[in-house]
Amino acid sequence: MSEQTTEMTPTIEVNYADKIPNNVNLSEDRRLQRAMEKWQPEFIDWWKSMGPEGFQEAEVYLRTAVGADPKGWAVFDYVKMPEYRWGILLASKEEGRVIPFGKHKGEPAWQEVPGEYRAMLKRLIVIQGDTEPASVEQQRYLGKTCPSLYDLRNLFQVNVEEGRHLWAMAYLLQKYFGKDGREEAEALLNRRSGDEDKPRILGAFNEKTPDWLSFFMFTFFTDRDGKMQLESLAQSGFDPLARTCRFMLTEEAHHMFVGESGVSRVIRKTLEKMQEAGISDPNEVEAVRALGVVDLPTLQRKVNFHFSVTLDLFGAEVSTNAANAFNAGIKGRYREDRLEDNHQLLNDTYPVLRHLDGELKEVEEPALNAINARLLDDYIADATAGVKRWNKLFQGSGVDFEITAPHKAFNRRVGEFCEVHVDPRGNLVSAETWQARRDEWLPTQADEDYLLSLMKPVTEKGQYADWIAPPKQGIDKKPGDFEYVALN
Ligand SMILES: [Fe+2]
Ligand SMILES: [Fe+2]
Repeated sequence: MSEQTTEMTPTIEVNYADKIPNNVNLSEDRRLQRAMEKWQPEFIDWWKSMGPEGFQEAEVYLRTAVGADPKGWAVFDYVKMPEYRWGILLASKEEGRVIPFGKHKGEPAWQEVPGEYRAMLKRLIVIQGDTEPASVEQQRYLGKTCPSLYDLRNLFQVNVEEGRHLWAMAYLLQKYFGKDGREEAEALLNRRSGDEDKPRILGAFNEKTPDWLSFFMFTFFTDRDGKMQLESLAQSGFDPLARTCRFMLTEEAHHMFVGESGVSRVIRKTLEKMQEAGISDPNEVEAVRALGVVDLPTLQRKVNFHFSVTLDLFGAEVSTNAANAFNAGIKGRYREDRLEDNHQLLNDTYPVLRHLDGELKEVEEPALNAINARLLDDYIADATAGVKRWNKLFQGSGVDFEITAPHKAFNRRVGEFCEVHVDPRGNLVSAETWQARRDEWLPTQADEDYLLSLMKPVTEKGQYADWIAPPKQGIDKKPGDFEYVALN
């Protein structure tokens, strides 16, 4: 007697609609679900090979976005990072929203991609999307030298949320841009930060983040570029993009907090050690380094580097692409909705610092062409306000020091000043002077080596590396000895 067996291929039905926290009715869009089902495992492969190295099994106390309600949009719990529930969440829809600027101002906001702006819109989404995985790649090895479990957890929080931002952009591409959108979503997983053959699109996202001071500077300066870009896209006449970016901004605030408080804690520790040792002159670099903390001139050079590299992300100050995107109603100005003008800028001008006839001078440019210059100025104001908050730490410390953001023309590779040498105060200098003084202005190999020498992992609960002060408060109101990451 023979028994007939039927070979059954086990089909595992993964309910992505349930697995992926979303408020976009994922379960009702079969085509999109199929696209996401294909993309999701590729994302996980990318995460496992390019995400935080050595911590894929660790239980991390993470915040997960689960809804778009401003009160209670996130939950905290221990998660293994590859099991993080990367969701698709858009800020809630405003009924009757109209296009807020440009030549379509006042028309109903687009719920589908307007054909004439398809290419422009896709390009903007791809550029934004590309930055998200890039920063995860840049920060991939930092976990190995974490100054504490608290910092390790914050790094991973930033990483998983950049992963979610990638999801957000991949969702828009797959939902609204058909086949080439799906290809672009895959390409986002295939470029690599710093890779010679397939680099990330923007320069700053191909730089290294080798040490924790770099990480704090990156989250303070470069994530703030992210904020400015998202704020401009949050104004978009293409409503799904606007709503996506508005929700991303909710998470972005924490990234900048990590940077701002991280640098503050570095400064506090340096001042504490200098005071103990009776050193008041910040230029006694060797003596300060002998205390095992970051000397202030090195910190200033790191500021100079991260600030100038980030300014390059804004593109050319005077730009017809930016004018076209504004005019089309696709990308607005920073907080367009709070600006009081006609939001069309047809006859307006904006003062732009330019390099003309061998000097730097301010010129009135048509406001439409100066959209990037304006966003850059808004960024500089926002970043400089943060630098001022750092400078309060020096008051009454007995150490006379002030951190300054360098001039906007300093050390630029993109835009108006890419062909001139300008010192941090904004003076044009010769190539010889630049060469001779470069090491005063930008981090040197010796600075980097010194910073790396401080990077020894501290993974005992409630303990901190000697170069950084503990935070003033725990995450989610947790006590000082809380186990933010359970390593196993
Ligand atoms: Fe992001
Ligand atoms: Fe971010």
